[in-house]
Amino acid sequence: MRISIFGAGYVGCVSAACLVLDGFNVALVDPDAAKIASINSGKSPIYEPGLNEIIKSFITNGMLSATQQYEQAVLDSDLSLCCPGTPSREDGSLETNYVKDVAEQIGSVLKHKKAFHIVVIRSTVLPGTVEAVVIPALEEKSGKKAGIDFGIAYYPEFLREGTAIADYKDPGAIVFGQYKDDTKSIEALNALCKNIATKPHVIPLRSAEIVKYTNNCWHAVKISFSNEIGNLCKSVDIDSHEVMEVLCSDKRLNISSAYMKPGFAYGGSCLPKDLRALRHFGKMENVATPMLDAAVSANEYQLLRAFQLVKKTGKKKIGILGITFKSDTDDLRESPLVALAEKLLGKGFELAIYDPNVSAKFASDHNYISHLAGYMKSSAGDVVSFSDAVVIGNKAKENDAALETMPEGMSVVDLVRVKVPMHSSVAYEGLVW
Ligand SMILES: NC(=O)c1ccc[n+]([C@@H]2O[C@H](COP(=O)([O-])OP(=O)(O)OC[C@H]3O[C@@H](n4cnc5c(N)ncnc54)[C@H](O)[C@@H]3O)[C@@H](O)[C@H]2O)c1
Repeated sequence: MRISIFGAGYVGCVSAACLVLDGFNVALVDPDAAKIASINSGKSPIYEPGLNEIIKSFITNGMLSATQQYEQAVLDSDLSLCCPGTPSREDGSLETNYVKDVAEQIGSVLKHKKAFHIVVIRSTVLPGTVEAVVIPALEEKSGKKAGIDFGIAYYPEFLREGTAIADYKDPGAIVFGQYKDDTKSIEALNALCKNIATKPHVIPLRSAEIVKYTNNCWHAVKISFSNEIGNLCKSVDIDSHEVMEVLCSDKRLNISSAYMKPGFAYGGSCLPKDLRALRHFGKMENVATPMLDAAVSANEYQLLRAFQLVKKTGKKKIGILGITFKSDTDDLRESPLVALAEKLLGKGFELAIYDPNVSAKFASDHNYISHLAGYMKSSAGDVVSFSDAVVIGNKAKENDAALETMPEGMSVVDLVRVKVPMHSSVAYEGLVW
């Protein structure tokens, strides 16, 4: 497989170097004459450890070349990796014009090219960009159909400048975004990564596009969170590095997939109270806590989103299955489901509530949940019989039979993603899926 790479910047040059090392013939394409001249003279246009040496030796042996002539590069290759810049516009939106230009250039060549060609986008682009910007440009200029007459895929780059070559060879994850049933392009990408041990995730195009942003935003959140803890620690002469080392040593709850499943608001007897206390501590020490403040706002917003979904059903009689902050507890302290119930009552909805742990305790102690006592039922079936819409607040298996046999026309708002089969006429909506 011969490769053309559009964009001789950081991503393009590193990809080119790693692909020639893996035995592919590569042509780098860029409109910047100075970059092209530099590469062809054996010098990398960017500094990255190890890159200069690779470029020099593969320019010399002819496996790597650089050109401003995109037509010939497309004709002489089987697959084009597109890595132009996608900088911020003044208003913060994403500049996609360079990606569009590349797509138009490749499309104009594909109009005449007989052999099958695969176009792979590597630049960081927002979800929907390949379908809304790249494919239309390619199809319009070529007069051909994406996924049929030519291949298309998205393959985001995760390299870090400074360790880019090592990151390419040993990435934390590889993601291929597949367009419809274009498996041919995915096979080509598998061939491209044949020497990398990491198994690629093959996911839909738009999911792959947002994975890249999710990663980078997660990294930014991690840095800012650590810095905020550092500021708090320093104010009272605590070694923040020691604190974060201990935090990171817990691979079960802290550095793990725990708490990383999108869903409903947090609650319970600890998180809300402890966030409040540390934010107050920051105030006393004159240290701002914007990350912790944002966590509280984000949690309130998640409660509002759940309320809005219930309201959108248009139903008035609402059943709530699960009222504690998580399954397998009867602790009601600061449960966001209690807050949701209170909000619904305040807005005039009628309620019926069941929670296996709470209902059992409530049977012997009516003061236990006094302000919601009048709404408690003794089974999930009783809740469903009362309601026109049901909110699923936990995964208690006691709910399953009632959910499976729900009457036609019922609305369901699922906050926890239960895997229970429901009647096809049930209007099901998940909170974040
Ligand atoms: N730099 C990184 O560490 C990094 C890491 C992962 C992803 N990314 C993403 O990869 C993309 C490229 O980033 P970069 O840092 O390599 O950008 P860069 O600015 O270093 O390079 C982009 C290159 O594209 C060239 N270009 C513009 N129009 C072109 C065209 N029509 N044909 C061919 N080349 C063209 C430019 O001349 C430039 O040399 C961006 O979307 C970026 O967000 C960057």
